[in-house]
Amino acid sequence: MKIIRTENYEEMSLKAGLLLTEKIRSNPSITLGMATGSTPKGIYQYLIKDHQDNRTTYKQVKSINLDEYIGIAPSNPNSYHYFMQKNLFEHLDIHEANTYLPNGAASNLEAECERYEKLIEDIGGVDLQILGIGQNGHIGFNEPGTSFDSRTHIINLEEDTRKANSRFFNSIDEVPKQAITMGIATILKSKEIFLLASGEAKADALARLIKDGISEDFPASALKLHQNVTIVADADALKYI
Ligand code: F6R
Repeated sequence: MKIIRTENYEEMSLKAGLLLTEKIRSNPSITLGMATGSTPKGIYQYLIKDHQDNRTTYKQVKSINLDEYIGIAPSNPNSYHYFMQKNLFEHLDIHEANTYLPNGAASNLEAECERYEKLIEDIGGVDLQILGIGQNGHIGFNEPGTSFDSRTHIINLEEDTRKANSRFFNSIDEVPKQAITMGIATILKSKEIFLLASGEAKADALARLIKDGISEDFPASALKLHQNVTIVADADALKYI
């Protein structure tokens, strides 16, 4: 794993954003794997500004998200559909038909997981996957204990994950208890991976990822099985490294 250390969140977003736009310009029909949450917001802002200033185009780009809450409609402001629309897609020239997220409001959730996994295969897989990391080491919503062989599946969210994400909701009671997430094996099939982390709250997780061995108890450690992973993280997140 290659590590790029930055001073702070702004520089992390700038460096990762720069790398990402270089990839998009050299491969205009790239398939990007997208994450939500606080960490990638700065990169998405960078992509929007670059699109406005430098006219980088997304007309042929496909984007496929890691995960979505179960039981929340795409129009709900807390859905990841809504997050992606507001924080990225509506500011770019990407075609809506080329943006994919799991449907957490599907009536048959198992069938939805199968559909999503097949969709990823059918569009030729993810060229570059963006990941954040949970304090417990989750990637996507793959919580500790998830099999490294897992494909897109339903996950029960840990209480700590629900607590961490309750900042986006009125109360923790509103945070869904389940999500659909790409599996670990799905993520590892991506050709290249950028893992982003910022802030002291992620320092223990990054230390564990970089220094410890590979274990299903710490999902992000699966990334050590991948040949092309770059960690872009700020000094606070890398404070034990
Ligand atoms: C989001 C996702 C999660 C987050 C992780 C970190 O799509 O899959 O793994 O990346 O929970 O979240 P933030 O960035 O909010 O700290």
